[in-house]
Amino acid sequence: MERTLVIIKPDAVRRKLIGRIIQRIEDKGLEIIAMKMLKLSREEAEEFYKEHIGKEFYESLVNFMSSGRIVAMVVEGENAISVIRKLIGKTDPYEADPGTIRGDFALKLPENVIHASDSKASAEREIKFFFKEL
Ligand code: TYD
Ligand code: MG
Repeated sequence: MERTLVIIKPDAVRRKLIGRIIQRIEDKGLEIIAMKMLKLSREEAEEFYKEHIGKEFYESLVNFMSSGRIVAMVVEGENAISVIRKLIGKTDPYEADPGTIRGDFALKLPENVIHASDSKASAEREIKFFFKEL
């Protein structure tokens, strides 16, 4: 069993896509074992995405991620990290295949509706970031 951190981003919350995104995760057979809605401060968004400090998109990414409420959740299942990454599709919604969450619900960066941890190490760090108790 593996755990990963998923975020429904501010664009998806604004567009009322929470239910449809959660549906896809549950339909796949994965289990949501923790979930909360919150708004990141600018500083929290900077900290969460610190691996991208210095990149040309960092500023707009931080602005976007602190622009409204998000839903953070811990998803558990066999190979949950890679399964969710496949489910969400490529980073750029223009490149993401139809049938993936980003491919179906997003049009352009940085508004790509969903985040998921990309490795065991980042899953561990990101789960702790939102769920100290886990
Ligand atoms: P990254 O970690 O590379 O992608 P992913 O979310 O698929 O793990 O980048 C983090 C976020 O930064 C990405 O979801 C959207 C934003 N971003 C841009 O706005 N422009 C870009 O060119 C890239 C690579 C990312
Ligand atoms: Mg990433």
